[in-house]
Amino acid sequence: MQTDSSFTFVLFGGTGDLSMRKILPALFEAHRAGGMLADSGKIVAVARHVGDRGEYLQWVNGHVKPHVSKNGVDESAWASFLERIEFVKLDLGNPEDFVLLRDAVQALPGIRVFYLATGPSLFVPICRALASVGLNENARIVLEKPLGYDLKSSNAINDAVGEIFAEEQIYRIDHYLGKEPVQNLLALRFGNALFEPLWRREWVESIQITIAEELGVEARGDFYDNTGALRDMVQNHLLQLLSIVAMEPPHSMDSDSVRDEKLRVLRALKPIDPLDIGKVAVRGQYHSGVIRGTSVPAYATEPGVKQNSTTETFVALKVEIENWRWAGVPFFLRTGKRLADRVAEIVVNFRAVPHSALGASALRAGANRLVIRLQPNETIRLYCLAKQPGEGMNLASVHLDLAFDQFFREGQMEAYQRLLLDVINGRLALFVRRDEQEAAWKWVEPILNEWKASNRPPKPYAAGTWGPAAASAMLAQHGTCWLEEEN
Ligand code: BG6
Repeated sequence: MQTDSSFTFVLFGGTGDLSMRKILPALFEAHRAGGMLADSGKIVAVARHVGDRGEYLQWVNGHVKPHVSKNGVDESAWASFLERIEFVKLDLGNPEDFVLLRDAVQALPGIRVFYLATGPSLFVPICRALASVGLNENARIVLEKPLGYDLKSSNAINDAVGEIFAEEQIYRIDHYLGKEPVQNLLALRFGNALFEPLWRREWVESIQITIAEELGVEARGDFYDNTGALRDMVQNHLLQLLSIVAMEPPHSMDSDSVRDEKLRVLRALKPIDPLDIGKVAVRGQYHSGVIRGTSVPAYATEPGVKQNSTTETFVALKVEIENWRWAGVPFFLRTGKRLADRVAEIVVNFRAVPHSALGASALRAGANRLVIRLQPNETIRLYCLAKQPGEGMNLASVHLDLAFDQFFREGQMEAYQRLLLDVINGRLALFVRRDEQEAAWKWVEPILNEWKASNRPPKPYAAGTWGPAAASAMLAQHGTCWLEEEN
């Protein structure tokens, strides 16, 4: 991916956790790889509590460097990366500071990117302050999730930002869209004639999408307790994955063709009747337990979490899509913290053969399934039945594997690296358009409202398990179960 487009990348929240763990390491990787970032491209970090550039670089050395490479840092690349970094001390409450920022940015070449790695409450004030010094013109703005708390608050942010930036200037990040296997799902579906004819209700029995984490809420108890898994993971990551799995083939890969198709899926999600919520949605909260031999505390005792909190740390849902391709096919989604394993994957379960001349084993549910493993160990695995060697005709499950790191030893990219390069190069396809976000909020809101109104606490599950038993019972009603791959 060569580029000659020069850029000035202004990073608000320059000393924040996201800058430290994701954004600056991703920019460094792109720099180290060579040819991805124009030589003249600059990063302008913005922060309030740092005195000057020297002090900021010290912070970068101390805090960012440990995150950039598992196998040791290329020191000469690191030194030249630091030369890209400028610094502006800025207090949001001080309009004069934005004049200084404008002067610093105007002295630099190329397109301008403003990355708001800050809480959402600062999005609108920052955009307004940028506009007050004319920095919104011809610039791109990147907004991190969470973008709002519900449809109303997300609309309020989008309306206010939309008065300052046109939609094609706005890059709403959902880092799951930048993950290599998600890209590969597009390649698999639309680059091969093999799967597309099967990718529909006639051949697919059900689809599962799981994002399971071993981690708890870490230091984010305060934020998380006001958010919960439905807002944190389902409204964005899981529904985005669902829309990519289920979308119609786009006419091209240009940003609006892809996003139009995803939007159609989100608009076709069968609305959930509040009376049915108990049947199609399970919410859970982790209690203390053991993960990989280590005892971990209950959610309710994590720092920042309110006493008797009813915030969910686990969600499982049965979702249906009301269109010709998918009518009647259940999509089972689940996500949770402190589960038995860290894994994100999509499982497409194909129907059994209509008649088996080979005995009952050929009618086994899930015998044909395609598993797209997003993390860890990115793989695509196709399960089928084969004859066991020896006498008789006994079938056994076997699989074909595509392990990306074996086929493609080089060139793998972290999600943030890909997405930041897309922003710099003006590619919007992997960013969430406003109408997609609205459709997703509209669909999840009745669930949020019902949970709030019912005042029922989430179902408990022990940390280190796969969530409340009700999540398994929901699938059992459909004659299936959650399929967990071996790591
Ligand atoms: C974030 C959520 O969007 O995604 C976190 O806010 C979650 O709660 C994270 O831990 C998971 O991302 P990944 O890439 O580590 O699976």
